[in-house]
Amino acid sequence: MNSTLAGRVVLVTGGASGIGAAVCRRAAATGASVVVADIDVPKAREIAGEVGGHALELDVTSEASVSAGVAAAEEAAGPVDVLVTSAGITQPPHPPEELEQSVWDRVQDVDLRGTWLCAVAVGRRMAVRGGGSIVTIASIAGMRSMPLHSYTPAKAAVIAMSADLATEWGRSGVRVNSVSPGYVLTPLLQEQIDDGQRDPSNLMESSALGRMVQTEEVADAVCFLASDAASAITGINLPVDAGWLVAPTWRTYRGVPDKR
Ligand code: NAI
Repeated sequence: MNSTLAGRVVLVTGGASGIGAAVCRRAAATGASVVVADIDVPKAREIAGEVGGHALELDVTSEASVSAGVAAAEEAAGPVDVLVTSAGITQPPHPPEELEQSVWDRVQDVDLRGTWLCAVAVGRRMAVRGGGSIVTIASIAGMRSMPLHSYTPAKAAVIAMSADLATEWGRSGVRVNSVSPGYVLTPLLQEQIDDGQRDPSNLMESSALGRMVQTEEVADAVCFLASDAASAITGINLPVDAGWLVAPTWRTYRGVPDKR
């Protein structure tokens, strides 16, 4: 079993922050050559500098930017072996009647369409070369009902799309899997907490482990799925959620038991 990414070229969208940055660090630590792709160029440069990789300006919502970005990544680092799509945004938990259509559209654009554009731009090259691994970052929000009327369906679609692509390119040696993080304290979630839209103690209380997830824990799962250690795993969605998916139904009984 080999769970390292030594010698692999790893392209991470949204690599300048949060989960994406943790993936860049983890992949580089196991010997990968990392390309940090983001709309936030200064932060992408910072992470690239830290991991000895390349920084790339890439807007996942723009077909032209994705296409040019992937070509530039391959020119700088070589053929991409691993794509991780972590670029994403969220939304306020407004009722449908109050959710601006432009907000709904933007979330779909970045989270769903952006993931699709990047997966196809890189996957088509991997399929022709006969190998590669794609890990999309979905969310537990794509697996349960939540008052996030654009984010939830966008993430559910990312999970479905990843399974479709896994089958599409399976015979060409390309594996495609999703990771669905639970609540991870990144700038994305911190912003929601600061706005009063999420209560951190409630988020922690809702999980079996009674805590949030660390970015490094998501990165470990991503790098495992991307590596040869997962060579027979494709088309799955792996929750990394501190047991958030399993715990809530216990509220209708005696709650999640305290530490013994
Ligand atoms: P973050 O806000 O820390 O990082 C997201 C990165 O994506 C930023 O660097 C941002 O500049 C970049 N980005 C945004 N729009 C972009 C675009 N159009 N093109 C290129 N880059 C763009 O967020 P975080 O928490 O690291 O989220 C990463 C992924 O994980 C997202 O897809 C998010 O939905 C997902 N996720 C996060 C959870 C959390 O609790 N933080 C939970 C479940 C899923």
